[in-house]
Amino acid sequence: MGRAKKVILAYSGGVDTSVCIPYLKQEWGVEEVITLAADLGQGDELEPIREKALKSGASESLVVDVRDSFIKDYAFPAIQANALYENRYPLGTALARPLIAKILVEAAAKYGADAIAHGCTGKGNDQVRFDVSTTALNPNLKILAPAREWGMSREETIAYGEKFGIPTPVKKSSPYSIDKNLLGRSIEAGILEDPTVEAPEEIYEMTKAIIDTPNEPEYIDIGFTQGIPTSINGESKDAIELIETVNKIAGNHGIGRIDMIENRLVGIKSREIYESPAMIVLINAHRDLESLTLTADITQYKRGVEQTYTQLVYNGLWYSPLKAALDAFIQKTQERVSGTVRMKLFKGNAAIVGRKSENTLYTPDLATYGADDQFDHKAAEGFIYVWGLPTRIWAQKN
Ligand code: ARG
Repeated sequence: MGRAKKVILAYSGGVDTSVCIPYLKQEWGVEEVITLAADLGQGDELEPIREKALKSGASESLVVDVRDSFIKDYAFPAIQANALYENRYPLGTALARPLIAKILVEAAAKYGADAIAHGCTGKGNDQVRFDVSTTALNPNLKILAPAREWGMSREETIAYGEKFGIPTPVKKSSPYSIDKNLLGRSIEAGILEDPTVEAPEEIYEMTKAIIDTPNEPEYIDIGFTQGIPTSINGESKDAIELIETVNKIAGNHGIGRIDMIENRLVGIKSREIYESPAMIVLINAHRDLESLTLTADITQYKRGVEQTYTQLVYNGLWYSPLKAALDAFIQKTQERVSGTVRMKLFKGNAAIVGRKSENTLYTPDLATYGADDQFDHKAAEGFIYVWGLPTRIWAQKN
């Protein structure tokens, strides 16, 4: 008896996930492996990937286009939550994992599989995200993670694959480990493991080096409807198109590069490079629009909620009751977050230079230092007396 009979394997076309196919069958006695590749806008050609899975021994090779749901159901809520892990990483990889888990679980139901599988190693966050998301959606499914157990080096993995007709990577494979999708690229390993060394220019694809960016600033107006970005420069855009457009415009100005030492859930500090132009611009714009349209107490209280929300997403708890409860809070706060934010993009910087909203709480009559000031200055005196009373009493006694 093998570990499972029929398995749905998350498939990327890379060496590790390809080797998982014969490995599951030969070593773990799985009878049938069905692969599933998710189209998240990574730009890879999916037809060759689909065929490669079949050549590697999959009985069926599924490709599912989930780009629209990825943006609408995962990226947009993260923008509404202003989600930046450790104040910097916009979660491009972390947001994709619960969606991939969801379609794995759906495929398992459809094809009558008793397990899902993925090619994650035991050192990263992604294994946690896949496993916990899967468990949350279907606690009866088994989860197989061959690469967490097989203990093969890269060379051994390639050699193992060759025995079963999996072609050796033609190009001398990149020294980096790269995950990419519509929200950006996450790059680690190789020379980047030395945190003192500046990341070589060759690793970037979506963002220009500052030396190559335009010498003129570019203005962009981002329209939001209830916290969701819906237009660029007055033109309505559907979800995918909007993200692609902002990636292009902001990337051209070198915006969205992040070089950080990050704390993984499994306790390891790792050096990570991200490029995520659209998410950086959209989160900054969104946060500014909230400042215009939300009351002071909600604006400030929400910052704490955002921290917790971001931790949950990073740590694989997308489908958790706390996350669902925070979603309800965040959705409620977004009802009036509609309007337009103007940004000036220049040399790696996205500066917010203007904002407007029908729901603005900014009151010129109160804010002005000019002649038409409506603020009751006398009232301030009494307010300060009461506000400062505890401090006055304390000072008198000490
Ligand atoms: N550290 C990031 C995260 O946990 C990105 C990991 C991406 N994987 C990669 N092979 N670069 O979300």
